[in-house]
Amino acid sequence: MKTTQETTTRLAASRRQFAKVASAAALLLAAGCSGGEDEQDKTAKKKEKTGMDFDELKEARRSVRQYAKSEISKEELEKIVTDALNAPSWKNTETTRYYAAATAAAKERMWKEALPGFNAASSANAAALVAVTYVPCESGFNDGKAVDDLGNTWGAYDCGLASSYFILAAKNRGWDTLIMGMRDVAKVKEILGIPKSEILMSVIAVGKSAQKYMKRPRKPVAEVLKVK
Ligand SMILES: Cc1cc2nc3c(=O)[nH]c(=O)nc-3n(C[C@H](O)[C@H](O)[C@H](O)COP(=O)(O)O)c2cc1C
Repeated sequence: MKTTQETTTRLAASRRQFAKVASAAALLLAAGCSGGEDEQDKTAKKKEKTGMDFDELKEARRSVRQYAKSEISKEELEKIVTDALNAPSWKNTETTRYYAAATAAAKERMWKEALPGFNAASSANAAALVAVTYVPCESGFNDGKAVDDLGNTWGAYDCGLASSYFILAAKNRGWDTLIMGMRDVAKVKEILGIPKSEILMSVIAVGKSAQKYMKRPRKPVAEVLKVK
């Protein structure tokens, strides 16, 4: 069991880590730096394509922290979420829910009240801020009883899968995204009218990129895959 002190210290450390990543990204952007690769500039146009195959899509999608002003319709959000509904879930329970702030008033409140400064700045001008939640005690549960040691972790697992589909579907339809795990749960729930019973995971900014394409480095595959 972790002590409250340990948990608080870990939370503060992870906040500092996010702040560091965000400010490093801001510095790179301010310097007009896209990661320094010519190749990235060359492929930038390709990244604006829609209706891509997976090879293109997985490269095109990157977290965007600078948006041009844009609006998104309810119909467009419905298309993205309909795509995301293809994600697998435990016994097809589909417990992920989406709550979009798409009006100027709702977004303003989210930026002012519900997101820490660096996330509010990164998502400024986004067309929508979509809170992603899941209904607990369904995924990983039979007749209200957890089927194994993971309990509601299965709901979070499904929600992560759904979010993954969501950000890829958005990109495939010409929208950029930023998953924001740092958020004020109570405020997000109040502003978007999310039931207290649901578990809020992230807030995803959806908008049109105003920054250069930037791919962050990834681990070598041998570090994450062991085959016997
Ligand atoms: C669960 C989760 C939470 C995240 N929270 C934040 C956040 O609060 N702020 C932020 O700027 N980026 C956040 N990110 C984005 C990651 O930093 C980003 O996905 C990672 O650096 C890889 O870069 P890429 O998405 O461009 O490939 C989050 C990503 C995930 C999956």
